[in-house]
Amino acid sequence: MEEQKPTFEDLKPMLRPIGIEKGVMKVDPEQCTSCGLCIENCPFKCLEMDEEEHPRMKQEYTCLSCFNCRVVCPTQAIAIERTFNVRGGFFDTQFPPMKMPREPKDAEGKATEWNPVERMILERRSVRHFKETPIPEPLLHRVLEAGRFAPSGGNHQPWKFTVVTNPDFIAELETTFQGFWAGLYQVFSNDETVINMVGVVPTGVFDPRTQGGIRCVALKELPIFFKAPAVIFLGANTKMNDAEVSIGICGQNMTLVAQSLGLGLCWSNFGGVAANALPEIKGRLGFDDPWKIQSTVCLGYPAFKQSGMVPRHMRPVTWFRPGSPEPQREE
Ligand SMILES: Cc1cc2nc3c(=O)[nH]c(=O)nc-3n(C[C@H](O)[C@H](O)[C@H](O)COP(=O)(O)O)c2cc1C
Ligand code: SF4
Ligand code: SF4
Repeated sequence: MEEQKPTFEDLKPMLRPIGIEKGVMKVDPEQCTSCGLCIENCPFKCLEMDEEEHPRMKQEYTCLSCFNCRVVCPTQAIAIERTFNVRGGFFDTQFPPMKMPREPKDAEGKATEWNPVERMILERRSVRHFKETPIPEPLLHRVLEAGRFAPSGGNHQPWKFTVVTNPDFIAELETTFQGFWAGLYQVFSNDETVINMVGVVPTGVFDPRTQGGIRCVALKELPIFFKAPAVIFLGANTKMNDAEVSIGICGQNMTLVAQSLGLGLCWSNFGGVAANALPEIKGRLGFDDPWKIQSTVCLGYPAFKQSGMVPRHMRPVTWFRPGSPEPQREE
């Protein structure tokens, strides 16, 4: 018997999610100097100036509660009114509340300072605005070496890198990939064609945040490579075990070392996915089978300060402590 294909109506809860509560940031006009940095630094261009030259949320926007607007504000004028949430429907994954990092304590439980590594991890934010200044190659080598020395499943070391510092080539890739996403946005927007993407892309691609990102890329509100002076393509060998996880760690090593060298960095899956989907470009970048492009990272000197601590979901931690047969949940 021929298997019945699911219809758009069957899949509608996943394809057109409901219950989305967009993040809401609120600006205190008393403290705001109208510098516009928060508008510039918002990846999804959620904010616009009101009549009094103070930022407000646009009518239509996607806010993923990254708080990159808050970390750039020189006067702490931005408060969080609501964080992104989905209540009900397919993508209601029961988000716990967002909280700032737990204050650090020493081994005896007494209050202490963050150490430099912790501070670097907690204050790191994605940097999407760079100076034109090129990154000296010796520094790029240090970033690449940090990646090469990451741990990997079975010591497979399943990575390979391509570094692009030629601004003309980065601009060419930006144009090509933007076209790719603009085309895909049409497919996702149309009830009749979106169904073709089911099973082709992971379910998470239909999450409203990813869809919001695709929309912003299609509308040229979110660049793909942010005019970064260097883009590193992270390749994964598909014959090697657990390559995706190992490459994630490899990229995080690069991120931290880049930061320690005074550089800023933003991952770009919009760059990685497009490069991997376009065979001619994938080959040109040096990733023929069995290699795939897992992701990309964009690096450069930050154009302005884009770092600072922000809240994150407080996921519950389950503990099995000595002498206690029952687990204890820490919210
Ligand atoms: C695997 C991965 C892919 C990402 N891809 C993109 C991307 O294509 N474009 C983008 O602007 N940000 C991208 N990001 C950055 C995330 O949006 C960012 O990490 C998140 O919003 C949290 O903000 P923060 O990095 O400032 O803490 C990516 C991050 C990761 C880890
Ligand atoms: S939290 Fe992030 S996405 Fe939301 S308005 Fe601020 S910068 Fe934009
Ligand atoms: S960054 Fe702060 S001071 Fe500048 S426009 Fe935004 S809210 Fe106002």
